[in-house]
Amino acid sequence: MTDRHDPAPYIDLKGIRKGYRIGTETVSIFADLDLAIAGGAFVAIMGPSGSGKSTLLNMLAGIESPDAGQLMIGGNRLDRMGEASRTAWRAHNMGMVFQFYNLLPMLTAAENVELPLLLKPLSGKERRLRTEKVLDLVGLAGREKQYPTRMSGGQQQRVGIARAIVADPGLLLCDEPTGDLDRKSADDILAMLGFLNRELCKTIVMVTHDPQAARHANRVLHLDKGEFAEERSAA
Ligand SMILES: Nc1ncnc2c1ncn2[C@@H]1O[C@H](COP(=O)(O)OP(=O)(O)OP(=O)(O)O)[C@@H](O)[C@H]1O
Ligand SMILES: [Mg+2]
Repeated sequence: MTDRHDPAPYIDLKGIRKGYRIGTETVSIFADLDLAIAGGAFVAIMGPSGSGKSTLLNMLAGIESPDAGQLMIGGNRLDRMGEASRTAWRAHNMGMVFQFYNLLPMLTAAENVELPLLLKPLSGKERRLRTEKVLDLVGLAGREKQYPTRMSGGQQQRVGIARAIVADPGLLLCDEPTGDLDRKSADDILAMLGFLNRELCKTIVMVTHDPQAARHANRVLHLDKGEFAEERSAA
């Protein structure tokens, strides 16, 4: 499934095969999956539990490898990279947002956000400036020293988003980013993702069970039995 108007998609998966070995059996998740996503898109991926949404996201993140097929992002063949190159690529090119935030409870909001910058050749001052800037962007200015355990779910997810964008990646991968939030907090987070997509040109791939969340995307894909069906595509 391709974006007809984009001859060189930002994300291009061809013939992806992926299964898990359970004992002596291999359970197939994807036998021959194709997917093309244009740069600058905001894509929602829906589908039943166990259909492979997180597996797909983890392959896009370079955390899991396909068993076969081509996985190209931004012109780079992730499936051909070694572990070290993939880790470095990930640090520069993508941010991840999780359902349960994955913040470290013993670190402050600012320390959590600063973590991805520790992999970069930046001074402490530059790291602090960038951290403050993104915390401001997500509406948490002045809360640098607060611990995530003292924050609401919506605030914790803002910290999660700030951490995901602090190194200025082009791609955001979000696995159920609003799955743990009430409607109001969920809508705030979705509006923020929409802003990052429109104003800062982040390409976003978001897994969600929530049809209202999917409406914020400009493309909705349904994953079922190892295949995609497209719901609608904004022109
Ligand atoms: N590390 C693993 N080892 C073995 N099987 C796995 C592993 N990870 C996932 N699976 C299996 O792969 C299938 C797809 O899992 P995945 O987590 O990608 O589904 P999902 O669509 O994200 O589901 P959910 O909506 O519940 O989050 C499931 O049947 C799951 O049990
Ligand atoms: Mg999942």
